[in-house]
Amino acid sequence: MTAQMIDGKRIAADIRAEVAERARILSARGVRPGLGVVLVGDDPASQVYVRMKTRACEEAGIHARDIKPPTDIGQPELLAIVDELNADPAIHGILVQLPLPGHLDEREVTERIDPSKDVDGFHPVNQGRMSQGDPDAFRPATPAGVQELIRRTGVETSGAHVVIVGRSNIVGMPMSQIMLQKEPGANATVTVAHSRTADLGAVTRQGEILIVAVGRPGIVRGDMVREGALVIDVGVNRVDDPSAARGYRLVGDVDFDEASERASWITPVPGGVGPMTIAMLLRNTVMSAERTPSAAEVGAAASG
Ligand code: GUN
Repeated sequence: MTAQMIDGKRIAADIRAEVAERARILSARGVRPGLGVVLVGDDPASQVYVRMKTRACEEAGIHARDIKPPTDIGQPELLAIVDELNADPAIHGILVQLPLPGHLDEREVTERIDPSKDVDGFHPVNQGRMSQGDPDAFRPATPAGVQELIRRTGVETSGAHVVIVGRSNIVGMPMSQIMLQKEPGANATVTVAHSRTADLGAVTRQGEILIVAVGRPGIVRGDMVREGALVIDVGVNRVDDPSAARGYRLVGDVDFDEASERASWITPVPGGVGPMTIAMLLRNTVMSAERTPSAAEVGAAASG
């Protein structure tokens, strides 16, 4: 079998166009969606991601407020920035780019974000509500984007065996919760494998849908893929390539050429899951703004 490619770039562009339309309707109501983006320090990869996110916001009619504290900012000062964004009525979503420098407490910062503005879906309140099936809980952008890619292939997920490789708080863990939900595009039987899993191939070969989010190039080889599986590769890894202009190229966690011979569907890297992460973040931000009454609506409610 030769796999069909899942075009994340095109699907993400469709979602971004839908978001832009929703932002336009909101602006006409007097609510301009706003996202506060906090990037601590000068990690080059984080700088690239944040630039892509803020550019995508502006294209979709979402105001992005960039805050870039220095690497040596203290925990109280960072918490004060979060407090200020929590209190700002022009801000509907807050994103603190992770990872934070080692001296900062990520958990405390994440938990300081008002859950109603937690468009990253990392706050324990949102993670807990999502696990309990609350449709209004913000879902983390990357796993939500993966589910959307799977939905749009038309492959049946109900009763299917989904194998997830990776158990991070950002992808693997919430991915498993999403695929367990009683909803279209989920209702699956879920297995989560990870770095301690014995005989990883024996587990991944059971997956009718295989989602890999480890961050290790080539951890899944072709012979670890079930014939006819739908394969989603979340990994983005730089590998040296002297023939490339930048001296490196991006590859996923799955050996793409080998897996394509066995899978029915597969995501490329780049151009698969990556663009979906940004699109779903924008969708969460607009969703948050839609829950906010406009100044005129607040006034009308107050007067009677
Ligand atoms: N670092 C890697 N992915 C993400 C993400 O989706 N959100 C944030 N805030 N940081 C990240």
